[in-house]
Amino acid sequence: MFDNWLKRYKGAKKSAIDVGIGSGVLAFQMVQHGFQKVFGTDTNPNAIAGLKEAMGETKLSRKIELSDANLFGELKNETELIVFNPPWLPAASSLGKIDEAIYYNKNLFPKFFAEANNRLAKDGKLVILFSNLGQITKASKEHPIEKELAKGVRFQLEKCLKKSVKVASEKTKRDQHWRSTEEVELWVLVKK
Ligand SMILES: C[S@@+](CC[C@H](N)C(=O)[O-])C[C@H]1O[C@@H](n2cnc3c(N)ncnc32)[C@H](O)[C@@H]1O
Repeated sequence: MFDNWLKRYKGAKKSAIDVGIGSGVLAFQMVQHGFQKVFGTDTNPNAIAGLKEAMGETKLSRKIELSDANLFGELKNETELIVFNPPWLPAASSLGKIDEAIYYNKNLFPKFFAEANNRLAKDGKLVILFSNLGQITKASKEHPIEKELAKGVRFQLEKCLKKSVKVASEKTKRDQHWRSTEEVELWVLVKK
């Protein structure tokens, strides 16, 4: 979904920030689509170390700058594109670094939106990949992006694309009864 969105993206491509860069897939896509510099952060030091090693001395390593940091870390500059594929489920207990790929604590989204507001350029785009998983599994009562938009203070919705997920393997032993209603979401927010 992000790759398709990038194909149609008409804005500036000087720099972008990938919050929670993980294996780097979204940052690689941005470089492929012509972004000159991508700053990536992650709270999981293994993600940063693994990505550093994988990129080695390649051209990618000159285009993607990594930082083992929470949210935006020390990045203060404005950028034209911020992307975040955050954890999709609210945490029921305290989190370790690996859990943070899947579960979010109650401060994550309020802090993310406040910091993103200070770093997004005037005509910039804030892209968030999310899912209705929390709602359909009844793990959460609220949707953190809808909650931010409902405040109507910092961001407004440009578009929200939704896509059903593929059916689960017949071999899975996990409870997948909700899967037929599961959708991934690509939210594009702009500054008010
Ligand atoms: C769902 S994964 C997405 C990884 C990758 N961007 C992708 O799309 O495949 C979420 C990532 O965000 C990281 N993360 C979670 N909370 C974070 C935070 N507060 N600051 C920076 N990274 C965070 C996790 O460690 C994990 O690598």
